[in-house]
Amino acid sequence: MIANGGVRTYEDATRCLEVTGCDAVMSSEALLENPGLFAPSSCSRDSGRRSLLLQEDLASEYLELAKAHGCQSKCVKAHMFHFLYAALQLHTDLRSQLGQAKGIDEMAAVNEALRRRRAEDRAGGVQWPETGWYMRYREPLRCPEEKERKKRKAQEAEADAEAVRGGPGAEAADEQASKRPAVGAPATAAEGAA
Ligand SMILES: Cc1cc2nc3c(=O)[nH]c(=O)nc-3n(C[C@H](O)[C@H](O)[C@H](O)COP(=O)(O)O)c2cc1C
Repeated sequence: MIANGGVRTYEDATRCLEVTGCDAVMSSEALLENPGLFAPSSCSRDSGRRSLLLQEDLASEYLELAKAHGCQSKCVKAHMFHFLYAALQLHTDLRSQLGQAKGIDEMAAVNEALRRRRAEDRAGGVQWPETGWYMRYREPLRCPEEKERKKRKAQEAEADAEAVRGGPGAEAADEQASKRPAVGAPATAAEGAA
């Protein structure tokens, strides 16, 4: 019996084995981001234990293998976006560069740039998760600029809704509406006489 679904970390896998008594555990989406998920130290909710393996390391090992085995750039890029998902939500300029990268060497250059950025981030005390792909809908990672943009959009939508409910915008709209002829009524006196 194999259990499947919702296994995101090594701890999830071991807990699933213990609680269900199944013979094996399978994971799918989480492995796209962290192929080392079944190695105890590779992935943990306790970020202190995760120091052995960074997403950039996984990505560069993968790129070496992809190059050695002549993998197609399109497939390789899709995997790179999974591996580096969290960091690229923060460093969106590098996300664009990865999107434009032609071939494995250019992808490797972006990965190295990201490695340097993340090292600076860590040294500067920037708090940012290593992973986030699996939870991207339930717990979306948003960089500060994107948060600000979303907030502005929500405020604009609220202002529009307020105008419709009876704010100053609605008064102007009512005035315009009162000048229009009623449905079925003649549009002008001349038309009425005709
Ligand atoms: C890239 C990918 C390919 C999948 N292919 C299949 C498939 O061919 N047949 C199938 O029954 N499920 C497929 N699934 C679903 C998974 O086997 C799994 O049931 C589902 O993703 C839930 O598990 P997870 O929470 O570990 O992702 C696929 C999932 C992914 C992400």
